[in-house]
Amino acid sequence: MKFFIDTANLDQIKEAKDLGILDGVTTNPSLMAKEGITGQSNVMNHYKAICEIVEGDVSAEVIATDFAGIIEEGQRLFDLASNIVVKVPMIKDGIKAIAWFTEHSIPTNCTLVFSAGQAILAAKAGATYLSPFIGRIDDTNWDGMSLISEIAEIYAIQGYDTQILAASIRNSRHIVDAAKAGADVVTCPLPAILGLLKHPLTDIGLEQFLSDHAKANSK
Ligand code: G3P
Repeated sequence: MKFFIDTANLDQIKEAKDLGILDGVTTNPSLMAKEGITGQSNVMNHYKAICEIVEGDVSAEVIATDFAGIIEEGQRLFDLASNIVVKVPMIKDGIKAIAWFTEHSIPTNCTLVFSAGQAILAAKAGATYLSPFIGRIDDTNWDGMSLISEIAEIYAIQGYDTQILAASIRNSRHIVDAAKAGADVVTCPLPAILGLLKHPLTDIGLEQFLSDHAKANSK
């Protein structure tokens, strides 16, 4: 399973990259706004800065919601760097645009996915990645992770190439469950990635090893 970081924060992207496990980045308009990145040229420059940090795929989301607008904006984003993936919402014109991008060899990430039916449509259109939003489904008291399992089963049966990118990850447990459910990629906030490191028995064990070593070597 590939690890992407879900942020537009350059320091966090660098920190995840320094860990040596980062395969890519996903962003969205809310994450860009959170970093205070506004105005078209600042947004474009910020994407370029992200693409200079990571070699892997960087999802950059279109704002347009009509076919012509999505194509025009997607092409501009794609021209920014060789690792840009155009992120397109799961709407009628979005699917049409994903099919067009597929035909023109432009990689896509179909976002805002909440059902298996949407997942089938995006795969038919040739999306490179599919982003089901786990946490947001959990927020409505449904089981987000069961959607990942269902899509993984369908894609395996049908032989679809689209990679399942588990998004809206809220904690480290989500990452483990996404791996079990068959996600190809997981995109997470930095604390969820770092949370994977933590176990109290690791801390207790390390303290013991270091103290035993110190005692033995002070004699
Ligand atoms: O990139 C989209 C997604 O990960 C959003 O997460 O936490 O806003 O539901 P969240």
